[in-house]
Amino acid sequence: MTLTLGIETSCDETSVAVVEGGRRVLSNVIHSQVDLHREFGGVVPELAARDHLERLPHLLDLALAKAAVQPADIDLCAVTRGPGLVGCLLVGVGVSEGLAAAWAKPITGVNHLWGHIYAAMLARPDLEPPLLGLVVSGAHSDLVRMPEHGRFEVIGRTRDDAAGEAFDKAARMLGLGFPGGPALDRLARTGDARRQPLPRPSLPGLEYSFSGLKTALLYRLRDLGDRITDQDRADLAAAFERSVVESLLEKLDKVLPTGGEVARRAGGELQEVVVAGGVAANSLLRRRAAEVVEGRARLTMPPLELCTDNAAMIAAAGTYAAVHPADVDPSLSW
Ligand code: KG4
Ligand code: ZN
Repeated sequence: MTLTLGIETSCDETSVAVVEGGRRVLSNVIHSQVDLHREFGGVVPELAARDHLERLPHLLDLALAKAAVQPADIDLCAVTRGPGLVGCLLVGVGVSEGLAAAWAKPITGVNHLWGHIYAAMLARPDLEPPLLGLVVSGAHSDLVRMPEHGRFEVIGRTRDDAAGEAFDKAARMLGLGFPGGPALDRLARTGDARRQPLPRPSLPGLEYSFSGLKTALLYRLRDLGDRITDQDRADLAAAFERSVVESLLEKLDKVLPTGGEVARRAGGELQEVVVAGGVAANSLLRRRAAEVVEGRARLTMPPLELCTDNAAMIAAAGTYAAVHPADVDPSLSW
């Protein structure tokens, strides 16, 4: 069975993993740079790239030791080649190329977004394409069809901000600091969306747009001014979260079969649906996605530690990309 070493450095998590057969995680060590970037209120690309370079050697030793494997046991090196911060990607790709050359192993570049979908296969090893995926991260909100391993068709995406980016900016407006998404999630749990309703973005077709919602929040905060209370902030967090989540799920709902269609289907095979990426860690999205998909398809959402950036998902995706080399889209580059 293929033993793959994965390396992920596309943004502010440095991660090294060893995955067996594209499905079984033997180790997945992750270092988050959150403390490094907090004082700047966001990821500083130059600092992020340097930190990846400093930490990778130790994380590599840890990942191999935890998996109880030697470099000689590794069959394949898989590394995120994009999308992401270019300086950060270069560190991961450079280190992986060095390892692959020194160890005389093959290397494959992985698209980070497809990696997020493979995280679901680590969570449910029997999961196979065809599937429908909603990949929601700090930089992307993509609705994709995956007809087979290594093949992805984007059927909907955002016109402006990604869902994670919208959460991060809203969190900053609400004074929640960095990282914003998880903080907004926590605050929203104490709020009531109905007390401070915000518009739900809805474009025709399968496109998303979150910049108007962000502006609506800005104006509401301006109107409230100094009178704003902690409860108002929590209510606004809940309203913002609800608008983003319902907008994301509205498009998923559109492409899912109706209950009647499912009942009429001969084989009784349920369509597979994956909701993945950092924003898939959001509690409301997890709950509402389960409700929307219920009875119409089978939903897989990776556990929280596999939703946010990690190298195990890159190793998993790389294993399949290597098995099906013809299916790797050569236009994907960083
Ligand atoms: O996939 P990811 O770890 O990195 C990228 O590929 O971008 O996603 C990070 C994004 C950030 O925007 C972060 O705020 C968001 O995921 N996020 C969340 C939650 N946890 C992470 N957004 C909302 N609720 C959460 N619980
Ligand atoms: Zn990501």
